[in-house]
Amino acid sequence: MDQLLNKEQYCNTWMEESEIFRKKMVYQWLTNFTPNGNILELGCGSGQGTYQLLKKHQVLSLDNNDFLINEAAKLIKEQAKIHKCNFLELTQEDKNIIKDFAPKVIVGWFLGSDGEEVEKYTDKGTNSEEKWDQYRKKIEDIITSPDICTPSVEYIHLANRNIFSSNYNEQKTFAATKKEYDTSIFSKINFEVVDVKIMAWPTKDSHFQYIGNQYYSNENSFKAIVSILARRKAT
Ligand SMILES: C[S@@+](CC[C@H](N)C(=O)[O-])C[C@H]1O[C@@H](n2cnc3c(N)ncnc32)[C@H](O)[C@@H]1O
Repeated sequence: MDQLLNKEQYCNTWMEESEIFRKKMVYQWLTNFTPNGNILELGCGSGQGTYQLLKKHQVLSLDNNDFLINEAAKLIKEQAKIHKCNFLELTQEDKNIIKDFAPKVIVGWFLGSDGEEVEKYTDKGTNSEEKWDQYRKKIEDIITSPDICTPSVEYIHLANRNIFSSNYNEQKTFAATKKEYDTSIFSKINFEVVDVKIMAWPTKDSHFQYIGNQYYSNENSFKAIVSILARRKAT
């Protein structure tokens, strides 16, 4: 499982995976649904998503993997600021940098981390599925905290992988995703899901270990990338 990968190994694996995303135009597809404005990106990874976002926006990206930050910096050069920090342990300086940037949109695409990081922030003795879930929830809590979701933020754009029933229909999927995310994340900060888009993602070329795939996938389901956009509710 990728939970055992150290930061360098995780970098190499994510470089491969994000190259497949690039070729399949996943990042270009996602940027279609990102509203205009200053973007605070959580996790630059290899910089492929950052690169696409930069075509239309000012971007401040946060990450703490030196190997990935170096790769991203090579790709995007001086165009975006990558700030090295651990978003689970933000310092006052990190918080000031975020606030001064006045983000309008938070982007959190494919959030996850290397094994050392996930081990550090999750309960000992839990299985890998639970660890990943715990880690993801910690990141979601940070995204919705006042340090990241400052008063200037109007939108939060998430992207995840998921598995859908083959009788998927857009309306039902929107309703189910909205219910799940509004209940667990957005309603407590007065945001709500306003748009959900799905792109089939067969993962046949991928070596990345997608959580849940081996358990839930069958001939009545398909794998997909999900774009989830939430907006601050009018007060
Ligand atoms: C799976 S990659 C996705 C990168 C990028 N969003 C993309 O779509 O290609 C997750 C990124 O988040 C970063 N990350 C995860 N947890 C982090 C944390 N606590 N602090 C800073 N960066 C973190 C990882 O280093 C990695 O670059």
